[in-house]
Order: sequence, then C-alpha cells, then structure tokens
Amino acid sequence: MATLAFNREEIAARELRPELLEMDGISRASVEAHYKLYQGYVAKRNEILARLGEVDLGAANQVYSEVRALKTDLSFAIGGVKNHEIYFEHLGGGGGAPTGAVAALIERDFGSADAWRADLTATGMAARGWAWTAYDWDEQRLFNYLGDAQNTFPIWNATPLVALDVYEHAYFLDYQTDRASYIDAFLGNLDWGVVNDWVARYAVEL
Ligand SMILES: [Fe+2]
Repeated sequence: MATLAFNREEIAARELRPELLEMDGISRASVEAHYKLYQGYVAKRNEILARLGEVDLGAANQVYSEVRALKTDLSFAIGGVKNHEIYFEHLGGGGGAPTGAVAALIERDFGSADAWRADLTATGMAARGWAWTAYDWDEQRLFNYLGDAQNTFPIWNATPLVALDVYEHAYFLDYQTDRASYIDAFLGNLDWGVVNDWVARYAVEL
C-alpha cells in the first residue's frame, strides 16, 4: 500500500547543565532519574517517526490503525521532549523575583510577581502534569496554562516561557507527596536570565 517517506532527522538528548546537579531543594538523584525519562521521550520520538516512514497509509482508521496509534503517541513523545527541554534549561539559577523584560511582562499581565507566583503555584497544584507560563501571540499576553500529560493541553500559537513539571516523578524522591514544597523549590531555582534570553529571541514586546 501507499507509504510516504516521513523519516525525519533523529534528534539527540540535550546535555544537562552542570548547575542542575547542585540545586538546593531538588536533589541530584531526582534530576538524574528525571533526565533518564527525558532521554526516553527523545528515543521514542525518533522511533515513532521512523515507524511512520513505513506505515500503511491505506489502512488509516479512526477506531484503530497504526497511523492513529503512532501519531497519537508521537504527540506525547514530542511533548515530553519539548516540556523537559524547557524545564531543564531554565533551572539551575537563583530563583527569586523575575528580572528584566519578563518581569515587566509579568507585572503587566498578572499585576505583580507575587500574583503570578500565586497563580502559577495554584495551576501547578491543580494540574496532573504541567503548568506553563506562556505568551499567547494572538491575545498578546501571558497566561498560566494547565497541562495533565505531555500532550494535554497546549494552546496553539502560545509560546511557553516557564514549564513547571508537577508529575510525581519530578518531586516524589525529595518531597513524597508534598508538591507545594517542591513548587517552592522549583521557583527558587529558576534562571530568569535564561527566560529573558527566550523573551529576546522570540521578540516578545511589551
Ligand atoms: Fe518530567
């Protein structure tokens, strides 16, 4: 049957910043175990795309088919890659109040850094997987979005600037079920310099 060559270039897992192994409140063991999960998402993304290169397109079916299964789980794998690349890249800093351009955006769209922090924390406590501070290019503002899994519920045309992982694997080793303390530790290790580099790269304007 008809197939299309959708083989893409394989991607490799990004290396961890050394600072991530020396954070206060999020242990090295926790980060190293977490990184292995991220490597797994990268491997599955590559595997699924290779499989899609050989799939029988003529057998596509909405109830069950290889195309459906592969494409559904591809969104989970790619979500796992992208979410964790943001997460790992913007940790390892000194936390505290936002600085620079992102501080001005947060002030404008949430009223204050404290209000942003309270809303992101609540979003993280209410989520089953992720809370993101993202910039919506259509509404031209920041919002704290809620995610349950790697592929739920991103918003089209919004760019995440903060990605708070609240899957239990992110904190159970260090905090058991005390997610609130983990969220405090996450915020205490954010690298606002990295977030501001993204704001500049994406050319988000006030
Ligand atoms: Fe994670």
